[in-house]
Amino acid sequence: MKIAAIADLHCRRNSVGEIRPLLASVETEADVLVLAGDLTDTGLRDEIAVLEGELAGLGLPIVAVLGNHDHESDEAEALTEMLCNIGVQVLDGTVCEVGNVGFVGTKGFCGGFDDLFIHPFGERALKTFIQASLDEAVRLENALVKLDCPHKVAVLHYAPVRDTLEGEPLELYPFLGSSRLANALDRHDIDVIFHGHAHHGSPKGQTAGGIPVHNVCRFVRHRFGQRPYCLLEI
Ligand SMILES: [Fe+2]
Ligand SMILES: [Fe+2]
Repeated sequence: MKIAAIADLHCRRNSVGEIRPLLASVETEADVLVLAGDLTDTGLRDEIAVLEGELAGLGLPIVAVLGNHDHESDEAEALTEMLCNIGVQVLDGTVCEVGNVGFVGTKGFCGGFDDLFIHPFGERALKTFIQASLDEAVRLENALVKLDCPHKVAVLHYAPVRDTLEGEPLELYPFLGSSRLANALDRHDIDVIFHGHAHHGSPKGQTAGGIPVHNVCRFVRHRFGQRPYCLLEI
């Protein structure tokens, strides 16, 4: 199966005609399209409506997760429903199957990496913040139990490893992802992980367990001279 993956479309009300060209050959080259979050710029229904127009007529299954920008207007549920209505599989601590490939997806969250992961200690506000990160990893792992496929693909918005953040300011790393996501995925047999969010990061890395990680943020790909979407066969 050939998988095309892209993140950070950041569709706005005035993006009509701008998104579709990024996906120009996707129908002929791929069997499934993955959208790894920040589909919209500010999480508005109008922005999803524009995106729907840009995706209209694409003859392949689409699997997506939302990003932090899609939550900006507190309309995530409505956006999800709109996307589901046009056949997009929106994963939120859930799984779906396309052919013999299982997809597990969730937005993920902040928290940091490895021995510098922020500990849920002290003020209630900090504990709540980090608990959101821990919860995302638990949801990912709980969802994975439901997949019984020969191949598994994970779709996140936030980064699961530091590798794909290279190029971002170090001070931002704790806000760009969480290694707890990678820890959860390393306990399962995952073929590849896609994420976005780190606009100034790097295209490729891997988890401690050796799972390939692709930052498919379209701005990163552009900066590295790559086509707008990543194309992988598994
Ligand atoms: Fe983004
Ligand atoms: Fe983001």
